[in-house]
Amino acid sequence: MAAKIISGRELSAQVVEELRERVARLKEKGITPGLAMVRVGDDPASISYMKQKSKTAAAVGVYSETIVFPEDTPEETLLAKIEELNHDPKFHGILVQLPLPKHIDERKVIEAIDPVKDVDCFHPVNVGKLLIGEPYLLPCTPHGVWQMLLRSGYSPEGKHVVICGRSNINGKPLFAILIQKKAGANATVTVCHSRTPDLARFTRQADILVVAIGRPRAITADMVREGTVVIDVGVNRVPDPTKKSGFRLVGDTDFEALSEKVEAITPVPGGVGPMTVAMLMWNTVVAAEFQAGPA
Ligand code: GUN
Repeated sequence: MAAKIISGRELSAQVVEELRERVARLKEKGITPGLAMVRVGDDPASISYMKQKSKTAAAVGVYSETIVFPEDTPEETLLAKIEELNHDPKFHGILVQLPLPKHIDERKVIEAIDPVKDVDCFHPVNVGKLLIGEPYLLPCTPHGVWQMLLRSGYSPEGKHVVICGRSNINGKPLFAILIQKKAGANATVTVCHSRTPDLARFTRQADILVVAIGRPRAITADMVREGTVVIDVGVNRVPDPTKKSGFRLVGDTDFEALSEKVEAITPVPGGVGPMTVAMLMWNTVVAAEFQAGPA
């Protein structure tokens, strides 16, 4: 039977609507949530992601600015800009688009952002808060995955979630979110990675399978069973001469084959991507509410 398609486009539109109302309440208090987005260099994927972020910011009513530095910008210049943004009351959120050029220390940059404005939730203080069960913000992609599950009627509560991928951006924080002692979380989570022998042994046990490994169509239909809900976090550019751009986007799962077998699956594009962007706006609104102080 054909799987249910979990649409990130539809669910993110729902989130945008909810956030618009919260922004309207902030604006009544004279506060417009502000987001500063910094890019170094002209990585095409980063340019495309940031365009999407500005567009969604405008839809939500968040004021956003994109600040672009040339590829050869010294680390100190970037750090000085972050320091300036940390103290600029116009901005409640600061994001530095990754990856950064090799001569810049990514950790140093992330740690320069004031944790209160860290809307990516990459700062060790915010990662630590999440891990001890007292989150301030949640990282955008894993939060988007969680919201997609909740909003499409597949709560992870009591389920066995198998995560493929252990990155600091996706796998690890998703694990921390789903094992929270909290309604809508409370999942049993297995984390698999590149050194897991016989990956299929684990993926076949999943009630919910989340794949974030960055390898095009790595999860094939024989690796999943019927009844599984599949969330595909992968965004891979594969050559496609029929496209004007010369490429098309595919996920980490063999979508065509899996969608004939599993209970539900997210498409790429139009799945996790738009939810990630919506969650960035969610964090910007939470950060603005927090910085506004008690009502
Ligand atoms: N590059 C790829 N994903 C992300 C993200 O979520 N945030 C930032 N800042 N950079 C990224």
